[in-house]
Amino acid sequence: MNEFTLDLNQRPRRNRKSATVRALVRETEISVKDFVYPVFIMEGENKEEPIPSMPGMTRKTVDVLFKEIEECVALGVKAIAPFPSIAEEKKDHKGSESYNPNGLVPTCVRAIKEKFPDVVVMTDVALDPFNIDGHDGIVAENGEILNDETVDVLCKMAVCHAKAGADFVCPSDMMDGRIGAIRSALDAAGFTNTSIMAYSAKYASAFYGPFRDALDSAPKAGDKKTYQMDPANRREAIREVALDINEGADIVMVKPACYYLDVLREVADFSEVPVAAYQVSGEYAMLCAAAENGWLDRNRVILESLMGIKRAGAKMIWTYFAKEAAKLLQGES
Ligand code: PBG
Repeated sequence: MNEFTLDLNQRPRRNRKSATVRALVRETEISVKDFVYPVFIMEGENKEEPIPSMPGMTRKTVDVLFKEIEECVALGVKAIAPFPSIAEEKKDHKGSESYNPNGLVPTCVRAIKEKFPDVVVMTDVALDPFNIDGHDGIVAENGEILNDETVDVLCKMAVCHAKAGADFVCPSDMMDGRIGAIRSALDAAGFTNTSIMAYSAKYASAFYGPFRDALDSAPKAGDKKTYQMDPANRREAIREVALDINEGADIVMVKPACYYLDVLREVADFSEVPVAAYQVSGEYAMLCAAAENGWLDRNRVILESLMGIKRAGAKMIWTYFAKEAAKLLQGES
């Protein structure tokens, strides 16, 4: 067909005429192998607390997490990202607890890798859970978020996680130059095989609200707009991704996912390393709330949202729906 002829015999519906035909022509598949499951951990034993703004998600002690990981492995969800809830008395202005080798995260990582060596553990590298100020970086007296001082601490944190056995360290802080600095620090400490998953295009989004409730990690003053990206910017995402790839990122991420699918597509077309997308806490909360009210069909919107993210170019998806989606996919096949 060329632009001058009008072909009235085009019938695209033929390719949709049965489930089998639709499966044959389907362009995108989502698989349990794509999922990374973020979990919230806390100190202590045999405790589990619900997170009201994230129905179905809880904060739990490492022993309780073990039971959940068994369930995950049985479902085929084999990548876990633990996020720590740190007691207020362990927080200071410099996030010192973030690189305590006996702290919650390294202890949890060692335990997981010992019991489940095939599970891939991806640790968060940022100061907000450890910092009294609730910022991802160190806050100066005048309120400025100090870049290079923060990067020094992030390097210690990353090496501490690598020593504990983390497969990936995942800087989510958006300081400048942190990927290169962390790569050098890991290599210098002998961890050339520890990978870096960079939160490269991370926006200053209101959709992180429920996550901050879960960890009690909201900024005490100000916002994160001097380090996280302006939601208005698309080309800047490419700049951030290019820098992170150049500095040694093994995987780059776009976050949030569903309101940023244009950015995700552009990054996926541009990036020579695999791209991750994070379906964040607010995206999870919205779908749960609408489903609880009977306004949306929960199972279908879970799979459709994940399909949209995959179709937009994500290779892997961080999602609180990982276990549920795994079950739904099993049911489909
Ligand atoms: C902190 C961090 C945040 C998330 C992941 N790592 C919150 C923030 O940047 O304020 C958000 C994840 C979510 O909302 O699910 N460095």
